Amino acid sequence: MRIDKYISGCGYASRKEVKKLVKQGKVTVDGKICEKAEEQVQEDSVVTVDGEILNYREFVYLMLNKPQGYVSAVFDKKYPVVTELVGEEYAHFEVFPVGRLDINTEGLLILTNDGQFTHEMTSPKKNVYKRYFAVLDKPMEDSDVEEFANGMEFKEFTAKSAKLEITDNPCEVYIEIAEGKFHQVKRMCERVGKTVTYLKRVAIGGLKLDESLDLGEIRELTQIEIDTLYKK
Ligand code: URA
Repeated sequence: MRIDKYISGCGYASRKEVKKLVKQGKVTVDGKICEKAEEQVQEDSVVTVDGEILNYREFVYLMLNKPQGYVSAVFDKKYPVVTELVGEEYAHFEVFPVGRLDINTEGLLILTNDGQFTHEMTSPKKNVYKRYFAVLDKPMEDSDVEEFANGMEFKEFTAKSAKLEITDNPCEVYIEIAEGKFHQVKRMCERVGKTVTYLKRVAIGGLKLDESLDLGEIRELTQIEIDTLYKK
């Protein structure tokens, strides 16, 4: 790839800025001063800027503790979008959300620029479980656990068997679903006569929301966390 793409991919500088750095003779490739921003480099080339070795990567994986009031999209006409919460240092990666949480749902949302990863996490065939904490207007009953386990028919889809765990307070529950259809958790609760008054996603597969993140805060996933997601 071109050196300007490589360097901007490291988050070091924009492509325009790279041109300047090259002109100033501040960029080296495998020990030689780079002459042109169009110069080609390999992913394993050793590239330095001002003597500092750069670390190239194509993809980035971010964990966001999504606050209410943000749409899970990169653009919206009316509301703020989750990508507005991503810091400048990740701007060049052009991340997008992996799946969707409703505007008034909080919690774990992954943002990435890796389309294949997104497919793996969201395809219904892959069966990646999503775990939610929900507060309800009325208490869940033991018979509801069975209703969730049996799956539910909706107009445009069938919800597979879901796990409902009632906590000591029966108005507070954990729900695990395999799909991520529009308003799925809320609709499943409505089906058994309860309205969700608060919803938070706490896990996707084996990846748990980092509770030390404040609402609106972001951090990169570790390699171990990324591997956990592929294992499901
Ligand atoms: N189910 C819902 O109803 N809303 C969400 O945001 C996610 C799952």
